[in-house]
Amino acid sequence: MKIVFSALAAIVIIGLVFFIRSLLFERVASVLPPPPANAPYRDPSLQAEKRIDDLLATMTLDEKIGQMALVEKNSIKNIADVATYGLGGVLSGAGGKPDDNTPQGWKQMVASYSDAAKRSRLGIPVLYGADANHGNGNVPGATIFPHAIGLGAANDPALTEQVARATAEESAAMGIRWNFSPALDLPADIRWGRVYEEFSDDTERAGSLGAAYITGLQDQSVPGGRINVLATAKHYIGVGSMTWGTSMNKDFHLDQGVVPDSEQALRNEYLGPFRAAVNAGAMSVMAGLGYWGSVNISADKYLLTDVLKNELGFKGFVVSDWYGVYEFSANNYASLIASVNAGMDMVMLPYDYKSFVAQMRSAVASNDIKESRIDDAVRRILRAKFAMGLFDEPPGSAPGIETIGSAAHRELARKAVQESLVLLKNTDDLLPIQKNVNHIRVAGSAADNFGRQAGAWTVEWQGIDGNWIPGTTSILSGIRNMVSKETRVEYDINGNFPKSDLADIGIAVVGEKPYAEGWGDNAEPRLDNADLAAIANLKKTCKQVVVVLVTGRPLIITDELPKWDAVVAAWLPGSEGEGVSDALFGATKFTGTLPLPWPRSIKQLPFSFDGKGADGTSPLFPRGYGFR
Ligand code: GLC
Repeated sequence: MKIVFSALAAIVIIGLVFFIRSLLFERVASVLPPPPANAPYRDPSLQAEKRIDDLLATMTLDEKIGQMALVEKNSIKNIADVATYGLGGVLSGAGGKPDDNTPQGWKQMVASYSDAAKRSRLGIPVLYGADANHGNGNVPGATIFPHAIGLGAANDPALTEQVARATAEESAAMGIRWNFSPALDLPADIRWGRVYEEFSDDTERAGSLGAAYITGLQDQSVPGGRINVLATAKHYIGVGSMTWGTSMNKDFHLDQGVVPDSEQALRNEYLGPFRAAVNAGAMSVMAGLGYWGSVNISADKYLLTDVLKNELGFKGFVVSDWYGVYEFSANNYASLIASVNAGMDMVMLPYDYKSFVAQMRSAVASNDIKESRIDDAVRRILRAKFAMGLFDEPPGSAPGIETIGSAAHRELARKAVQESLVLLKNTDDLLPIQKNVNHIRVAGSAADNFGRQAGAWTVEWQGIDGNWIPGTTSILSGIRNMVSKETRVEYDINGNFPKSDLADIGIAVVGEKPYAEGWGDNAEPRLDNADLAAIANLKKTCKQVVVVLVTGRPLIITDELPKWDAVVAAWLPGSEGEGVSDALFGATKFTGTLPLPWPRSIKQLPFSFDGKGADGTSPLFPRGYGFR
């Protein structure tokens, strides 16, 4: 009995000690005077590293810990906490829009966090981040570019750089100076729900496009010039090769699963795009959600520190993904220590930043995390902030919100759509269709459905199935705008037309419902029965049929392909549907090539990097395939 009592007493005393210490810490930070206005860290004429030295020497432990917190905005109930805790970053998780989901609404929301940060003792600017992975899809009216897989099919680094630059303009115009893009995973398995977020399964193609994207986004128009929008190379590393059925998330199958920890694949495949990203000046890398063999990637010192920081020479900061630091263990304290000691510099906190701060204080107090590790993490974060000019930003330096959805950006997006299209089959040179063709019939779930054209990460995390955003052009309206006045164009989503007269051409625009992340994990990606029926109906009422696939990945079409006269892979083209009709009617040529192998059957998955199926067989179409 006595032992129980003394143990209880010990726990109470320890708890009290920590409670008093935390009160003390709170008080220390809030009672210290602000540094003088001419403090070295505020002097733009000084070298960044000198400014960081000065700032680190001035910061309390709490202020350092605060900089390591990236907090989801919906979990901040009192905006003054941005200053009280000195938060390093705030993010809008996918769909994390303001009540007033307009560019003005975003600008106001982001500014409220930036202004709050300025009221902290040191006035360290807060980084506001969001996912703008196909343009700033968070806000209606933005230009929605093709998702990365379409840029991968275009395989045009100059175009990719321009798309990223325009994306940066439309983000910075709303104050969003951090974009959690580009994804540089190499998708080996089309059953994964994130294939469309990637450029290619080829390390060279992914690397060159990723580097171009980072250059465009950060837009350092002069060498060493300030970074416009901070890029994030993600999801480090190998998460395109997760094994089916290993997901830690009970609702998923592949996403958040286990990557076979092949050193050979790490060196010959996965690292290439991240090396290219580091060489292109990336100052943030996001750790993937999942396992590298038996080790949680967020706590893998070999990957985060030995390889990325020491071998590749990465000088920026590593940020965790969502709840990734804690996701795979019951003991949050132990997970956090393991992750920070492995090299995690900034921890994404979707729900609770206060316990993060308390745990970090305890970890330093008990020497579970050395303050030198914290200093290194904060130095890396501040390095990025200084490189962005955040401390020295002249007021009004962001582009005006008229850049959002501008004609110039929509023209660029239309060009990206044109270049992304891959012509997989063209019997009797059916394509391009003559503009003065007499009679066309259009059918299919994606013909007049912007939600499918854009895919997910568009206003909502999972996207919205349906035609609902002003300023966008559906593929159907693109067709109507392209043909001559005399051409008769009929549309029925199911392809129900009178069998009496045959139309010259049937165009079936078919595809997938929008999905994001593990919710898109699919054991056998195929067209659904409604779309297959629509194609069959067109076959009965049209002389020839073109199938346009609006999908986030290759689908299994082996059995249906022989019945189709022409096939175009259009991926997820975004707001400018006319880019598809431009090529269908010959205004532009088909130049796209497959960014990854197109499987013949599920049995071939996952593909190996030499383009062979898991069963050693060849794909239906190899990577690089495409009629021109
Ligand atoms: C998600 C994704 C990541 C994204 C982040 C913030 O879980 O895995 O790609 O950038 O959370 O939304």
